[in-house]
Amino acid sequence: MLGIETSCDETAASVVRQGADGAGEILSNVVRSQLDLHAAYGGVVPEIAARAHVDLLDTAVTQAMADFGLDFAALDGIAAAAGPGLIGGLIVGLTTGKAMALGLEKPFMAINHLEAHALSAGLTDGLDFPYLLLLVSGGHTQLLIVKDVGAYERLGTTLDDALGEAFDKAAKLLGLPYPGGPEVERTAARGRATIKLPRPMLGRSEPHFSLAGLKTALRQEAIKRAPLDDQTVADLCASFQEAVADVIQDRTARAMDLYATRLGEKAQRALVVAGGVAANQRLRGALQDVARARGFSLVVPPPALCTDNGAMIAWAGTMRLARGLTDDLTAPARARWPLDPDAPPALGAGVKA
Ligand code: KG4
Ligand code: ZN
Repeated sequence: MLGIETSCDETAASVVRQGADGAGEILSNVVRSQLDLHAAYGGVVPEIAARAHVDLLDTAVTQAMADFGLDFAALDGIAAAAGPGLIGGLIVGLTTGKAMALGLEKPFMAINHLEAHALSAGLTDGLDFPYLLLLVSGGHTQLLIVKDVGAYERLGTTLDDALGEAFDKAAKLLGLPYPGGPEVERTAARGRATIKLPRPMLGRSEPHFSLAGLKTALRQEAIKRAPLDDQTVADLCASFQEAVADVIQDRTARAMDLYATRLGEKAQRALVVAGGVAANQRLRGALQDVARARGFSLVVPPPALCTDNGAMIAWAGTMRLARGLTDDLTAPARARWPLDPDAPPALGAGVKA
């Protein structure tokens, strides 16, 4: 299966195969990051991203096929991310995938990018359903029960900023470069978490997140201490990261309780963490603690497969094709595409929920 990913700022193409034993194998995995193009703006610029996908995608596909080593005829199908994401970029990858499927007379799968993240633990760790997924990246913050392909129950989402976005904004207001997450983690390592910051949503019964208030509190603490010296920036980073760790631990614990209530005490207890924020060691430690306390195993796919990539799209395509879930050439690109359309709206949720 060839998978194409263009929903944000990574142009990616990959070929994966499912063996007779059901295990996945990545045969090629090409990711062309556009980080340099967006860094000067402190975030992803949608129009720049869409144009860059046009420039980068054909050679990314060519490279993925060369690494695979066989001809297009050897493919069983083509899968492309169709949403949710930046619409201009999605159109580039989706149209390319459709054109290839049409020309090659192969089945086509329009993939939900969130579903691809949700299923990738099957590819990387051979994990069976069901499991609890914490998806934390620059664009998504969700807690989901993954029951089967196409069967997801959303337990929690963010009412405002995504977790990675909160790290990026925290970095920006402290004068650290983009993307902020790794910078905040690095800087926090030489800081003391002594500055008091709020823990939004702690103890709430539904495992939703809210991060805008924490960011505002951080800004106020920074203004109070201006001009900021290096040690104060480090202390602010450490305090922010501790606040996020407490929030993530509490919200995930709540989701674990709901998971056990919904599926019964006998259901497999596994927590999968995906998305760029999963790289953060302090947050990982916090999740490891809560997993241990509740008898869950913690599954964190390798960083290259936690962040956006084509292999997860190809794998979702493989899973869907096996179930006869193909799409025709009218499949639209979708800026918004919830995995669980029946989830009750989160009270107070903005456009990002
Ligand atoms: O999954 P990803 O590569 O791209 C998408 O957003 O889809 O995630 C990128 C996000 C950025 O917001 C980045 O700041 C955050 O993940 N991130 C981190 C760390 N590494 C990346 N956040 C906290 N700590 C990190 N070490
Ligand atoms: Zn993603």
